[in-house]
Amino acid sequence: AKSNLQFPDGFLWGGATAANQLEGAYDKDGKGLNLADVLPGGKVRTQIMKDHGFAFEIDADKYRYPNHEGIDFYHRYKEDIALFAEMGFKAYRMSIAWSRIFPRGDEQEPNEAGLAFYDRVFDELHKHGIEPVVTISHYEMPLHLIKEYGGWRSREVIGFFENYATTLFKRYKDKVKYWMTFNEINGAVFHPIMGLGFSPKDEESKLQESFQGLHHQFVASSLAVKAGHEIIPGSQIGCMLIYAPVYSYDCNPDNIFHALREEQVFNYICGDVHVRGEYPVFAKRFFKENHIKLDIREGDLDVIKEHTVDYIGFSYYMSRTEKKIKDESDFIEGNILNGAKNPFLKASDWGWEIDPVGLRISLNQLYDRYRVPLFVVENGLGAYDKVEEDGSIQDDYRIDYLREHIREIGEAVEDGVDVMGYTAWGCIDLVSMSTGQMSKRYGFIYVDKHDDGTGTLERKKKKSFDWYQQVISTNGSEL
Ligand code: BG6
Repeated sequence: AKSNLQFPDGFLWGGATAANQLEGAYDKDGKGLNLADVLPGGKVRTQIMKDHGFAFEIDADKYRYPNHEGIDFYHRYKEDIALFAEMGFKAYRMSIAWSRIFPRGDEQEPNEAGLAFYDRVFDELHKHGIEPVVTISHYEMPLHLIKEYGGWRSREVIGFFENYATTLFKRYKDKVKYWMTFNEINGAVFHPIMGLGFSPKDEESKLQESFQGLHHQFVASSLAVKAGHEIIPGSQIGCMLIYAPVYSYDCNPDNIFHALREEQVFNYICGDVHVRGEYPVFAKRFFKENHIKLDIREGDLDVIKEHTVDYIGFSYYMSRTEKKIKDESDFIEGNILNGAKNPFLKASDWGWEIDPVGLRISLNQLYDRYRVPLFVVENGLGAYDKVEEDGSIQDDYRIDYLREHIREIGEAVEDGVDVMGYTAWGCIDLVSMSTGQMSKRYGFIYVDKHDDGTGTLERKKKKSFDWYQQVISTNGSEL
């Protein structure tokens, strides 16, 4: 249907993925093990993300490891990119597996076979006129850095990351203009394992350890921005936030203030450091009240101040509803975020509340505060799909979800927000981050692969494939 909305010329329509969730080939061509390689599939993964003291080992007798094979993008990228091109993608957001480039993470010299793989991928994208948008670190830290250094607990990792990022910028300077440093960096406040590569000692030390790890990432991110700008003139280097606007449960001022503080701590500490180049004023009190003492070394704050990001990339899946006094009975759980149940919203089969207007709110909030271009680099519906007898997949629920969210982006554009693009999450079915399931599908392209590891890996277009193709070809005027 006609949308009556006008998306900007050159809007970057496309899809998004992460290396560990689709490449497979986990031990090919010199790749080292990484975080995703030790995460089992199924409910246990969700538990691991919450527990303390996870050992980061593979136990093949007990568990399956779905990321090891992924959907075998490593060998099938040509076919997959051709399908993206058929949908008309202008951009493809992907990540680089750090441990393909530096198998242990602390080497000086990179692994040529790993670098060559991404050359092939970028060349293939450019052949089809698709702009790569690259996340440097997306939940796939080399295992050696986790085990030997304690992940981002260690300051030493800053130097390894800087070397890794610099290696990428030098190698791909003519192929990649759009970059992001750390995926969903603020997610660490909830689940340090994924972003920071360590499992906190206990609940008590979690905030202290997470914010210290984040501080190391802030410095590392700024050093990467510095290097990127020097090596690739005209490059656009962004941060990447998981963004969920925080609503107060009701109009009780205590709840409203609580929601505001949650928003500040969860959304704006990371945003402010990346974009404004400084810790926000409220951070001081929050750190003090929570016994967080950051080890900030000389020069850190200067680097952060001088090398701020060019844009904000963010994922949007849900809003959060907060009450000051928590009541377990209406606690709702998403993959990273949780809070009280919002009576005005429906949820997905995984309990993620669906809130398209929240995306317009997010875009307005972020633009009001930061005035830098915004890029919606993840959004989508994880759902069970059914292959009909005739082989078709009628995913109208996904079309509805995406249509409503894209419409709200259009509204935000009309509000005056500068939005660079939209890359739908999991444009091809891939391994779920939070559960390791294949059955939690996001794609326009179905992949014949199942939770028990069976399947031919054959690709099939879903109904949403044709729909998205039309959205892109009309630049959003048909939704
Ligand atoms: C985001 C992550 O939080 O959500 C992705 O950046 C992830 O890696 C996506 O896949 C969807 O989450 P899930 O758990 O449904 O795969």
